[in-house]
Amino acid sequence: MGSVVKSGSGSNVKIVFVYLLVSFLLLQKCSSQLLNYIHVNVVNDLGDNIDIKMHCKSKDDLIGERWVHYKEDFAWQFKRNFLGTTLYWCWMTWYDTSAGHWIVGSYEIYNAKTDVNNCGLHCNWSVRKDGLYHHLPWGWEKIYTW
Ligand SMILES: *[C@@H]1O[C@H](CO)[C@@H](O)[C@H](O)[C@H]1NC(C)=O
Repeated sequence: MGSVVKSGSGSNVKIVFVYLLVSFLLLQKCSSQLLNYIHVNVVNDLGDNIDIKMHCKSKDDLIGERWVHYKEDFAWQFKRNFLGTTLYWCWMTWYDTSAGHWIVGSYEIYNAKTDVNNCGLHCNWSVRKDGLYHHLPWGWEKIYTW
């Protein structure tokens, strides 16, 4: 009996230790993202001579509007808010010569809830003819189609 109680309390100590370690690591990860700037980078990968007009903003931060040439990027940095509700979206348009008309779309480009894990402090996007690709821990993944 006595030995059962002992081994039980021993594993409790282990669980508490693991819990503390995990909390510490999570806290460290979160606070590093609260203290540091998050860099968002949206690259025009549409093809030669295709420009994108882009306009990005959050509820209280306006990044502005400009033309982005092929292989150039639209980039900005910000600090995530404490509640983790930081959200940026971008409106963009480009002329699709093969379709013969303008393509227009508005997409969520940064969402603190998911991007804390998806991209950390460097969040990259690639704008391509078939859609918008996000750089995730395992590589580029198409998130939106036009
Ligand atoms: C993300 O963009 C930055 C700035 O252009 C670049 O330095 C970095 O290598 C990019 N990371 C990936 C995974 O593409």
